[in-house]
Amino acid sequence: DGFTAERLFNQGYSYTYDDVIFLPHYIDFPADSVQLGTKLSRNIHLSIPCVASPMDTVTESSMAVAMASLGGIGIVHSNSSPSDQAAHIRFTKSRRIPFVSDPIFKSPSDSIGSVDEFAASPCVLVTESGRANSKLLGYVSKSDWVHLSDKESRISNYMVNSPVSVPASYDFERVAGYLAAEKRDFVATVNDGEVVDVVTAADVERIRGLPRLGVPSVGADGEFMVGAAIGTREQDKERLEHVVKAGANVVVLDSSQGNSSYQIDMIKYVKRTYPELDVIGGNVVTAYQAHNLIQAGVDGLRVGMGSGSICTTQEVCAVGRGQATAVYKVSSIAEQSGVPVIADGGISNSGHIVKALVLGASTVMMGSFLAGSNEAPGAYEYQDGRRIKKYRGMGSLEAMTKGSDARYLGDTAKLKIAQGVVGAVADKGSVFKFIPYSMQAVKQGLQDLGASSLQSAHDLLRSRVLRLEVRTGAAQVEGGVHGLVSYEKKSF
Ligand code: XMP
Repeated sequence: DGFTAERLFNQGYSYTYDDVIFLPHYIDFPADSVQLGTKLSRNIHLSIPCVASPMDTVTESSMAVAMASLGGIGIVHSNSSPSDQAAHIRFTKSRRIPFVSDPIFKSPSDSIGSVDEFAASPCVLVTESGRANSKLLGYVSKSDWVHLSDKESRISNYMVNSPVSVPASYDFERVAGYLAAEKRDFVATVNDGEVVDVVTAADVERIRGLPRLGVPSVGADGEFMVGAAIGTREQDKERLEHVVKAGANVVVLDSSQGNSSYQIDMIKYVKRTYPELDVIGGNVVTAYQAHNLIQAGVDGLRVGMGSGSICTTQEVCAVGRGQATAVYKVSSIAEQSGVPVIADGGISNSGHIVKALVLGASTVMMGSFLAGSNEAPGAYEYQDGRRIKKYRGMGSLEAMTKGSDARYLGDTAKLKIAQGVVGAVADKGSVFKFIPYSMQAVKQGLQDLGASSLQSAHDLLRSRVLRLEVRTGAAQVEGGVHGLVSYEKKSF
């Protein structure tokens, strides 16, 4: 019944996720026992198959911290100076708790009136410089600054001089235990004598109320794992040095067409210079492209060309491939060399994640799926009464003006042509909520297919046990919600 993947994907059609559907198989285990543990690259293990894309409206330190604490990983974008990118990496690695609180820092000589009366934080941390990463001197509680009438008065007059702190290396349970034992509302976290953040009792309560987290992604150094995007130009060698010094666990060579002499040279350079560092190449969509990068020594392959929600590459350049076909074709060859595949772009629901993983990917990389979350960079705005966040393609003119043109243009290109758009996505709340629910949905999808792990899904597909079909236009309509006058779209 149905087609094997081999037969379906060898007919000369470019299929995307929505075109295909799996036929159910046989269930003999509960969904909760499905294992989502996987590999990002040869040497990087993750407990969930989720990767935040290196885009400047998706992954900076806040997203990287969140993804690592959930058991996935974030790749910090390179559309900034090497030192800014390195700062995001260092910041991510200085954390062991799932969130970034963004506390208020002041110096003793600042006035009480300089503190925003409506700030949500329960305290102001007083440091030598009035900024983070400086010696902690004390704190002022919110009740003090809100009720004071003398706004000109100095912070030092009201500061509690006995600053309480815990090492930033404490994980969530340890900090929560400390706050409970000491009956405190907040505590500063300190790294090498310098204050990094504050954790409040309200933060602890919020995290406890969320769905259970997976095993956090922690490297051999005991710190959160984080990746860095770099390009393939000569100056990217300097960027590479910055991000490696900052502690990046893996680098991603960021290019829309990865099968190039520039990328092959860069892969060899990275492996020669930092033999211990995993390097992910791409993007590729064919077995031929993948073969070349595998030969050059990549530890992971990023798959997708023009399938992203903000991409116009296929329209502008007439090059690319349907994402389901691309993931299947590249995975087929990468698997033979033990190189994990990242299915990059085109993920807009948990069903797409299941399809990508079963067709051979080890992880999915997401842009728009994560862009409207609290953890994505940028502030929320309102558009027609809806809360939205900006999301833009790295090949949009706006992003390229900031420097991301290396991904889309050669060194010599004088005229900039956009391969992406600038847009906005709806507020999605916190990744701590929707990622665990999405992962539960993925487990149920794998259970329907009789796959108790990602490896077992790959094996069932290759051994022709799993069967698929192409959905006609009408079947796709039938597979979505239809025939209702209205409905509320709520998944959890
Ligand atoms: P999603 O669908 O998750 O896609 O939003 C994210 C992926 O899209 C790629 N990307 C682009 N591709 N023009 C393109 O052709 C662009 O401007 C652009 N920006 C990002 C990238 O692979 C990302 O992970």
